[in-house]
Amino acid sequence: MSHVEEHDATRRDFLYYATGGAGAIATGAAVWPLVNQMNPSADVQALSSIRVDVSGVEVGTQLTVKWLGKPVFIRRRTQDEIDAARATPLAELADQGAENANIAAGADASDENRTLDEAGEWLVMMGVCTHLGCVPLGDGAGDFGGWFCPCHGSHYDTAGRIRKGPAPRNLPVPVAAFEGDTEIVLG
Ligand code: FES
Repeated sequence: MSHVEEHDATRRDFLYYATGGAGAIATGAAVWPLVNQMNPSADVQALSSIRVDVSGVEVGTQLTVKWLGKPVFIRRRTQDEIDAARATPLAELADQGAENANIAAGADASDENRTLDEAGEWLVMMGVCTHLGCVPLGDGAGDFGGWFCPCHGSHYDTAGRIRKGPAPRNLPVPVAAFEGDTEIVLG
């Protein structure tokens, strides 16, 4: 088998489909013992990219998947959440940077620079508080209707931007893209 074929086979074998937070983590756990018995490069490739089926995610709900050992929030926002984020003046934001791995460094933290699609329905972020790394609560939590980290009281808005509390930065947006209408690829 050539190097290229081997690479493709490994990716195909170890990409897994996440249809729910618990399911995603359970699948990952089931895959790991197999991966660990194989060559070292296989586990790196298994972690580097995952596909998430988001066809079952209703408006106003979110999916949490585990990627690179950390939670990733995938939220399908309501129109009210989108409107609230887009109506917020940039001057009110504590972190002015987009914190989005998919766009050029230096972009501002406008809602348009944070979401996966132009309409702003899909928001994908690392679920790790930028203060000391707790997992924030979602589904409209906190004073700004987005996420709230109870560890030390950090409030994030509906675009995952830090608005109040000790966290210094917006929740980071990882490398992510739609593939077709129903799958998001992380990494
Ligand atoms: S870890 Fe989130 S507020 Fe401290």
